[in-house]
Amino acid sequence: MTTPVPDASTSDSESVALAELAGEGASPPLQKSELKRLRKAELKEQRRLQAKEQRQQKKKAQKQRKQELRQEHLESMSATERAEFLEKEREAGRERKAAIEATLDYSFHHGRPRIVINCSFSDTMDVRELTSLAKQVQLSYTQARDSNSKAQLHIMSLHSQNPVIHSLEKQGMKSWKLHLHEESVWDVFATEAREGRLVVLTPDAEEELLEVLEEEVYVVGGIVDRSVKKMQSRAQAVDQGATKLRKLPLKRFGPTGCCPVLNIDCVVRILCEWLKGDGSWQPVFERCLPPRRVGDRAVLSKRQRRTQRALERAGQATPVDDDG
Ligand SMILES: C[S@@+](CC[C@H](N)C(=O)[O-])C[C@H]1O[C@@H](n2cnc3c(N)ncnc32)[C@H](O)[C@@H]1O
Repeated sequence: MTTPVPDASTSDSESVALAELAGEGASPPLQKSELKRLRKAELKEQRRLQAKEQRQQKKKAQKQRKQELRQEHLESMSATERAEFLEKEREAGRERKAAIEATLDYSFHHGRPRIVINCSFSDTMDVRELTSLAKQVQLSYTQARDSNSKAQLHIMSLHSQNPVIHSLEKQGMKSWKLHLHEESVWDVFATEAREGRLVVLTPDAEEELLEVLEEEVYVVGGIVDRSVKKMQSRAQAVDQGATKLRKLPLKRFGPTGCCPVLNIDCVVRILCEWLKGDGSWQPVFERCLPPRRVGDRAVLSKRQRRTQRALERAGQATPVDDDG
């Protein structure tokens, strides 16, 4: 539960309540600046929750509208047409599922390159961050699956003491077709590291990643940066003697002003999309990066605006979301 923090026009009685919250009467009382910081953080949190609620409602309304249209469409058919339509729909669903299963199976056994999520940082995260981490890992899996990626996914350091396991299980990890390891990335991929084929992705690397090669193993840090903990993935890699540290070439090919630190699922998606493309980064970044925001408005690149307009015309536009 969040602590109620009054705004700048706090009344006397509210001030008393605030003072109680701040621990006045108990020791030590909070400084004015600390109270101000708390208020600001609380307002920010309220705004975040409000925006989230709005997005959810919009999504719900869109879903409902889609269902209504489908229902109208079905009702406009004769009984025979409807039965045929539904059977065709079921058949298409079965075919889609079979195709996804086949790709998943292929990737699991023979997929390349290997993309590895290093979940050895969980001890440094709070419950909210762990939930976020699990959600991002789940998104990495579904995005790779739904884009028919041939990359092979691994999750590392899932030993019984790792606190993220519980959150991952809640996201459905037990039904995922990917490689789960109790051991660390440094133990499992020691050979690749020795042979210079282990690439640690970190925004704090000096060198840029220029291409994604099938024979290499790409390590993505299982870290959620609510309060940016700089250098974490880099420090561990250096400690472990890793020699190939790379950052994505966002500065050179990414949209102006894009965030230099990306979510795990976004990084995995970028790698998968690059593999499907012709070797250029720019279109990959355009497709995969969440747009920059000013206030509550997304700042879209020219290409993103064009795509958004086309989607709107086709009635398929989805709200631009900044949720990690
Ligand atoms: C939210 S970031 C965590 C950043 C964190 N400060 C760190 O020490 O890595 C999660 C992971 O995504 C990958 N990542 C995010 N942005 C990246 C970038 N610009 N270049 C390379 N990897 C990136 C890294 O593997 C990183 O550990």
